[in-house]
Amino acid sequence: MERKINFNAGPAELPGEVLHDVGRAIHHYKRTGLSILELPHRSEEFIEIVDEANQLVRELCGLGEEYDILWLHGGGRMQFCMLPMNLLSEGKTAAYIESGLWAKEAIKYAGHYGKVQVAATSEPDGYNSLPRWPSKISPKPAYLHITTNNTIHGTQLHDIPETNAPLVADMSSDIFGQARDYSRFAMFYATAQKNLGVPGLALAVINKDILQKSARDLPPLLSYREQAKENSIVNTANVFAIYTSLLMLRWTKARGLATLEHDNRRKAAMLYDLLDSSAVFRPRVTERADRSIMNVCFTTTKAHEARFLALCDKNNIVGIKGHRYTGGFRVSLYNPVSVDAVETLVSLMREYERTA
Ligand SMILES: Cc1ncc(COP(=O)(O)O)c(C=O)c1O
Repeated sequence: MERKINFNAGPAELPGEVLHDVGRAIHHYKRTGLSILELPHRSEEFIEIVDEANQLVRELCGLGEEYDILWLHGGGRMQFCMLPMNLLSEGKTAAYIESGLWAKEAIKYAGHYGKVQVAATSEPDGYNSLPRWPSKISPKPAYLHITTNNTIHGTQLHDIPETNAPLVADMSSDIFGQARDYSRFAMFYATAQKNLGVPGLALAVINKDILQKSARDLPPLLSYREQAKENSIVNTANVFAIYTSLLMLRWTKARGLATLEHDNRRKAAMLYDLLDSSAVFRPRVTERADRSIMNVCFTTTKAHEARFLALCDKNNIVGIKGHRYTGGFRVSLYNPVSVDAVETLVSLMREYERTA
């Protein structure tokens, strides 16, 4: 069956090579006589998978042994819980920048574990722009949480200004989408189902110093320190999802971050160029510096919306309907989405404009 042109925000497209290797591993994982779905989580083969994945994350981020690399159950929202559980000690405050609905959700979750300060918000603007950056927060918080890319709204923090607080970032929808100085962060995390693999898993990268300061006594499964000690194998690890992430990391390294960033910028520019001159479609984010290269959001009238969605469906294009909060359209341009796919969509938009 023909594959669709997939612009979903997550679970998102996976590269053909990765799907091919996953398919093979489902039948036979190396010479084990087992499927990857049957591979014991304490086997030598699985430990090799985790070690290689950790090594590739270090390489791609340009980080050394001063960071622990963790593969954790439960996706992004579980990190909304584990982060304050581990790093917000009693009596301390955590600061959050509320740049979108995912950030708002992270704030809500953190409120269950300690004091939270919203250091800046763009809620009054419907999150269609980035909030003003709070350069100095006092008293100094346990950490300042940011979302580097706001998946739902299509904004992205391209240059991260200075701050006096340890930086923690949710990079769920732009990790490895462009070069970045990862050493600026005390911790960052990403749910897997975008640039990293399949749902239910999160990657967390934590500076060892901040981990040592973590004070709460937690059950081992929820403790970053225990997870680090056990190489992410406290309980039955998600062998399949971690293996898929390893394949994605190998693919990312083979393509190279510079090439991926170049292509991502090109894909986004093709869409924004069209949107900035269109009589039918309007970009949701007008401030160019705030625009995401991973999720491009736009609107039109209700009548055009229904007609254009039907046209996309007829042309095998899926996943461009906006989030239920914003409506409109959202085109996700994660690393596996090809320049050709975006050219096809842009041609269809231009053709639609001509006949609208
Ligand atoms: C920026 C961001 N953070 C967190 C999440 C939540 O991830 P999960 O659905 O794995 O809990 C998402 C999901 O799309 C996201 O885009």
